[in-house]
Amino acid sequence: MSLRNINYTNDKYFQLECNSIKTESWILVGHVQELKNNYDFLTFNYLGQNIFIQNFKGEIKAFQNICLHRFNDIHKEPYGNRVATCLYHYWTYNKKGQVIGMSCKNSFEEDKIKKLELKEFEVQSCGEFIFIKLNSENKITLSEFLGDLYKNIEEFSKHFSSKSIDYNIEHNCNWKLLVENVLECYHCASVHDNSFAKMGYGFIKPEKFGIFKEHSWCEFPKKGIYKEKKIIEDMFNSRTLKIDGYLHFYIYPNAFISSVEGKGFYLGFLFPESVDKTNLRVRYFLPKIEKKLSESDKNIFDFIISSSHDSLNLVLNEDKNIIEGIQKNLNILKDHSPIFGNEEFRINSFYNNFAQKIK
Ligand code: FES
Ligand SMILES: [Fe+2]
Repeated sequence: MSLRNINYTNDKYFQLECNSIKTESWILVGHVQELKNNYDFLTFNYLGQNIFIQNFKGEIKAFQNICLHRFNDIHKEPYGNRVATCLYHYWTYNKKGQVIGMSCKNSFEEDKIKKLELKEFEVQSCGEFIFIKLNSENKITLSEFLGDLYKNIEEFSKHFSSKSIDYNIEHNCNWKLLVENVLECYHCASVHDNSFAKMGYGFIKPEKFGIFKEHSWCEFPKKGIYKEKKIIEDMFNSRTLKIDGYLHFYIYPNAFISSVEGKGFYLGFLFPESVDKTNLRVRYFLPKIEKKLSESDKNIFDFIISSSHDSLNLVLNEDKNIIEGIQKNLNILKDHSPIFGNEEFRINSFYNNFAQKIK
């Protein structure tokens, strides 16, 4: 296959990619754990859309996050818990996106207001992951979209407990460089020699993996028998997902989900902002633990989770440093034809499917 069709610097090419994604893709937007309670919400701007997703008495709905009065955001924060009320003049929306309250109600024609509705996006779940469809004309179902990976993703989603962090890392590079970077652990021993590799990852070739169109998963084995301190091992003994390796999913187009040994879960949400700017929203979830934790267990658990946040942040910034440097070089080069070896098979299969769509 020729990879001549990959481009990281051309605005027109970037627009074609965005159009293709918007037209045909479902987007993984969050996990049920984030929207457990009535009024819990999440917001995000994705490919020119401003969207909120909210729990309305147990029903998860997604709408355009733009008030119908004079176009203020309905929710400003990236996540929170409150009714869907725009804080400019208190217009309030229900689960159908209709206006059900406002300041000075009598100053508007009631019939006109009754007909108003926020633009809605279809919401579907795969296990406990929540997806939305950006293009209502797109007829592909979520299970067709996820194909062979549906069952793996569904099963994986059930092991997430509550969210422990949610923040953004800006990247001065094209979105595909983030995708390429997570699709191999060939760089783990070198780039992460002081972090991830110390835990034993990046040395053994993966044997378990699955690919469906642009999506893929892979389990990376750990080198050696690195033993955690007994107190930590005991804590995780009753976690619901007991794996020995590092399990990673790429759900095209936007989501990276992974777990080191089932002891915590990372959800990365990729936002292409322009041809050379990409935001990564970083979320981390606690593992489900079957044993009831004592007060002292909880302190140890909090300590472990806070170290996991630090390690994750370190690894993500090590990656950012490399791929931002690559972007600078791509701006110099005219020929963007990378060479992918056997360890980079997931990247190859991603481009085999994606690059040919961009004509
Ligand atoms: S703009 Fe939202 S209430 Fe006025
Ligand atoms: Fe990395």
